[in-house]
Amino acid sequence: MRTDHRFYYEDSRDMSEIKNASVDLVITSPPYPMIEMWDKQFAGFNSEIESALQNGDYNRAFEAMHCELDRVWSELFRVMKDGAMACINIGDATRTFNKRFQLFSNHARIQRKFASLGFDTMPLITWRKQTNAPNKFMGSGMLPVGAYVTLEHEYILLFRKGLKREFPTAEEKLNRRHSAYFWEERNTWFSDLWDFKGTRQAVNNLNMRSRSGAFPLVLPFRLINMYSVYGDTILDPFSGTGTTALAAMATGRNSDNYELDESFSIPFRNSVFTAIREMREHNRERIRKHLEFVKNYQSDKGSLKHKNSYFGFPVMTRQEEDLKLFYPKSVREVEKDNYQVKYFEDQSLKTLEPEYLAQQRLRFATGIDSAD
Ligand SMILES: C[S@@+](CC[C@H](N)C(=O)[O-])C[C@H]1O[C@@H](n2cnc3c(N)ncnc32)[C@H](O)[C@@H]1O
Repeated sequence: MRTDHRFYYEDSRDMSEIKNASVDLVITSPPYPMIEMWDKQFAGFNSEIESALQNGDYNRAFEAMHCELDRVWSELFRVMKDGAMACINIGDATRTFNKRFQLFSNHARIQRKFASLGFDTMPLITWRKQTNAPNKFMGSGMLPVGAYVTLEHEYILLFRKGLKREFPTAEEKLNRRHSAYFWEERNTWFSDLWDFKGTRQAVNNLNMRSRSGAFPLVLPFRLINMYSVYGDTILDPFSGTGTTALAAMATGRNSDNYELDESFSIPFRNSVFTAIREMREHNRERIRKHLEFVKNYQSDKGSLKHKNSYFGFPVMTRQEEDLKLFYPKSVREVEKDNYQVKYFEDQSLKTLEPEYLAQQRLRFATGIDSAD
């Protein structure tokens, strides 16, 4: 098992390196229109944006910024396979000019464009990002009527190109079963409200991540597991620090990544080799959480009826019986900005979970934790 990860330090408004109908899943977060940290980049795309911002013509600036993003969305329609999903992380913006405070609804504008391109809109996910900043409340404080509710969420917009994906051959069906997620993961992941509070955020320099508008690794990690299978190709047209690529490496998928700012290539190269260890940790965390779920379920409700054929532990449904995990073994930069990841071949717990084996304390049949 091997996956390839390519970075193109180019403008994704033209992704001619990517063939038509070749991408299985898109995960991305564009620069956010009308959020100040991205003004300069948008102004570089089109001089009309700069003049509209300077003149305080914010509605014109908003529309002109989206027209630049629209070009990337059109490219997505070209490169995505039928049945492929696109997941777009975006936040709305607020801005005041000449005493007029206004919301700029980026998510609504993007949904309209995707629909006009021919994508089908799926129910979206609200990502709750609570802030404790002392200045989070905007407007007239404790005096009515000029205060504004705080934006403490972003969106993950979901779109599908064409009809639901099919897995016609026996091999494809089996790969889909290998790529299954746990029943209890389904219950959390397919909720329309996500909150990553308390989720581990390792990999990469945190300071750099916040300056670059990076999303946490857990976000593409979940989406990849939800909407693709092993060996698929994931595209991120605004890859920044390369979080989507890392999640693809961790989950046995290939990736193509576009980014305008070439300076991101160095921190990625410097961190990817050590990140491999962190990536394995994501699989371990899934196993640990599953075992915890099994233990609680067994003590509350009784035994689970199905057994996973690779790990030997109980699972809730038949669909999880062939669930497999690929653990990254090594990563190599085979050409500049082109990485290859190899995985442990042996799926036995002995190779994949030495730590788990060492502390094998759960007796599944009885549900008794014998750690004592
Ligand atoms: C919100 S950030 C993405 C962060 C990324 N998800 C991560 O985890 O690091 C948007 C990125 O898009 C890049 N960008 C903006 N316009 C672009 C374009 N036309 N082509 C390629 N990259 C672009 C910016 O340089 C920025 O790094």
